[in-house]
Amino acid sequence: AKKRIGIDIGGTNIACGLVEEGQILYKTSLATNASEGKESVFNSIFKAVQMVLDNTETTIKQIAGIGVGVPGMVDMDTGVVKLAPNLYWEYVPVKEILEKKFKVPVVVDNDANAAALGEVLSGAGKGNKDVVCITIGTGIGAGLIINGKIHHGKSGGAGEFGHTIVNEKGPLCNCGSRGCLETLTSATAIVNKGKDILQQESDSILKDCIVEGQPLGAKEIFLAAQKGDKWCKEVIEESCKHLGMALANVVNLLNPEQIIVGGGVSQAGEALFRPLKKWVNYYSLDILNKDLSVDPAELGNDAGIIGAAGLIK
Ligand code: BGC
Ligand code: NA
Ligand code: ZN
Repeated sequence: AKKRIGIDIGGTNIACGLVEEGQILYKTSLATNASEGKESVFNSIFKAVQMVLDNTETTIKQIAGIGVGVPGMVDMDTGVVKLAPNLYWEYVPVKEILEKKFKVPVVVDNDANAAALGEVLSGAGKGNKDVVCITIGTGIGAGLIINGKIHHGKSGGAGEFGHTIVNEKGPLCNCGSRGCLETLTSATAIVNKGKDILQQESDSILKDCIVEGQPLGAKEIFLAAQKGDKWCKEVIEESCKHLGMALANVVNLLNPEQIIVGGGVSQAGEALFRPLKKWVNYYSLDILNKDLSVDPAELGNDAGIIGAAGLIK
């Protein structure tokens, strides 16, 4: 079998790997730095691909193709990214740019769709046919596996779960709406709430959970909550409630057999999954949730790379 390159462009990092038969042979990761503009992002992508080739002594001619997952809505016919809110991209011809550069076939799909594909091919959803796989990171995405296949909708935008409105008066989202789920429960949103706690609540122990010289992450807020910090506990409880409510609506809409939760925040383990399952069950129809399992992703950050590589036929 020929090797493929899988690229997962996230709001924070670009992960790139060489994949053979669903296994990553080598991978690397660079900062996305979306605010520096798309030329800068593409330079990082080019660099990451070159690093992967160099470090595996592979030539581009030995590659069957490059699969790319992007955090936005993709026109599947043209490989144009129509809108990627957290990259500030509109109508970026990703397929064309990468094919011109590397002269191999390029397939572009939504990042969460690629991760979902990775999870049903060789992760937590192996063999399952009706799966909703969400990723919680800089934004919140979803890949809908319906009857064993990724569901793209009419124009590539199916599964934009992160923009489900859960509070009409909530914070402004990069998509232009207010109160989207990802403005309340993404890693970015949780960190922003943590920053407010650091500034406003002098009795919070969150400051003691931060490793010196390291930026505040969702991880520290989970840690402080676990140690009993009431402010952080409230943030986690609220986040799980909103996420659970939104997922319950998805359960009622699609009747999936499994919900897989991936992305950085899913690494919080039971501190996330216990309250999340409680709220999913609370808000969804019992007749539907009794057949449902809610599981952590198994491929972790590799799902995006493996899934993207899997886009190449
Ligand atoms: C985008 C989705 C993406 C998700 C996760 C959202 O803001 O609209 O397309 O899947 O972030 O990156
Ligand atoms: Na999606
Ligand atoms: Zn939004």
